[in-house]
Amino acid sequence: MRNRPYTLLSCSVSIDGYIGTAAERLLLSNDADFDRVDAVRASCDAILVGAQTVRADNPRLLVRSPRRREERTARGLAPSPMKVTVTRRAQLDAQAAFFTQGDAEKLVYCPSPSVGAARTRLGPVATVVDGGGNVEMRTLTTDLAARGVERLMVEGGGCVHTQFLTDDLVDELQLVVAPVFVGDSDAPRFVTDGRFPWSAGRRATLADVRQIGDVVLLRYALSARFQPD
Ligand SMILES: NC(=O)c1ccc[n+]([C@@H]2O[C@H](COP(=O)([O-])OP(=O)(O)OC[C@H]3O[C@@H](n4cnc5c(N)ncnc54)[C@H](OP(=O)(O)O)[C@@H]3O)[C@@H](O)[C@H]2O)c1
Repeated sequence: MRNRPYTLLSCSVSIDGYIGTAAERLLLSNDADFDRVDAVRASCDAILVGAQTVRADNPRLLVRSPRRREERTARGLAPSPMKVTVTRRAQLDAQAAFFTQGDAEKLVYCPSPSVGAARTRLGPVATVVDGGGNVEMRTLTTDLAARGVERLMVEGGGCVHTQFLTDDLVDELQLVVAPVFVGDSDAPRFVTDGRFPWSAGRRATLADVRQIGDVVLLRYALSARFQPD
């Protein structure tokens, strides 16, 4: 077993690099691309999102296609992957779809001082994991590997993307560019400020480009572990 899962970061952005609006959820992809994302979800052991995405979008994070759910079940897996989130404040609603939808295991990583509050609030609906003084994504992914996660999908938001990318934990980036502008600097971006391993002096490897209706999928190989289809 590897000491961290193969990690695939999936995100859709506007032409001007935003992943939502300041006020409301923004659906950037089209139906064909949502179906592609569904297939990627079905191929993973766990899906991770930040707590702000849980609060803002109330995502279900389930495999939608009945056929894909059945295929997973036939392989002895849960119909949908494990769900994982991370929070410092532990202010998450146990009634959020993240917790109530689907039978797969739900994990909540938080720093030690928040564990008590998180277990009080979420103990009945999730496994709360003590992430130590500060939850480091490298430690988190090592812990996920120990729990049997070999393939991890990271689905936002920008705060979480930034940590995975700056910590050089992403093997593959799937970036979808949608033909819209957001044009509001208060809106969330794909990433926030940080020291990224890729720059003018060390360019990322573009592995594939695919048009899907009115959006374009860019696949970047960000590590030697990149797995082409
Ligand atoms: N277009 C897309 O593909 C896409 C996908 C997903 C999300 N989004 C959008 O992204 C936006 C949310 O992004 P965001 O950057 O604001 O937030 P985010 O990354 O979803 O979540 C940030 C939160 O996660 C927790 N967190 C992050 N790192 C942590 C760490 N190391 N230790 C402990 N807790 C940690 C904190 O939660 P607490 O505040 O609870 O402490 C933090 O406030 C939403 O507007 C959503 O619609 C877009």
